[in-house]
Amino acid sequence: MSSEARIRDPARRSMLLTALYIAQEQYGHLTPEAVQRVAGRLGLPVTEVYSMASFYSLYRTKPTGRYVLQVCEGLSCHLVGGAEGLVDYLRSKLGIEPGQTTKDGLFTLETVQCLASCGTSPAIRVNDALYENMTMEKVDELLETLRGYHV
Ligand code: FES
Repeated sequence: MSSEARIRDPARRSMLLTALYIAQEQYGHLTPEAVQRVAGRLGLPVTEVYSMASFYSLYRTKPTGRYVLQVCEGLSCHLVGGAEGLVDYLRSKLGIEPGQTTKDGLFTLETVQCLASCGTSPAIRVNDALYENMTMEKVDELLETLRGYHV
């Protein structure tokens, strides 16, 4: 089977997504070495594996803070007025811009398109956990809780 045929094979694609997730857990983010190992194990081109890794917001290809705060900027979240307000609020609370990490290495702020929680928008994902119907007050509680784990 050619590498192009392998990437189109649904079973292999499914294995790829899972393998990328496991590699990310092991490496902290998808380093070039992690991507190469996954590609080698599944017999897929590195470029295809990297392309998949960079497409999904679940995967991180750069070092991040302990907690990656992903604020949805999708249409549903935007329509309820949440996205911009929450991003601005987190910017001021954390003193960072989207794509940056706090100096203490605790938080990375990102914006993403749709967290598949449109019915309970606005939504924020923190690592693997989804937080719905977010407000500024809930953001404060969330940051306080996460910081509390590191006192
Ligand atoms: S648009 Fe925000 S969760 Fe879908």
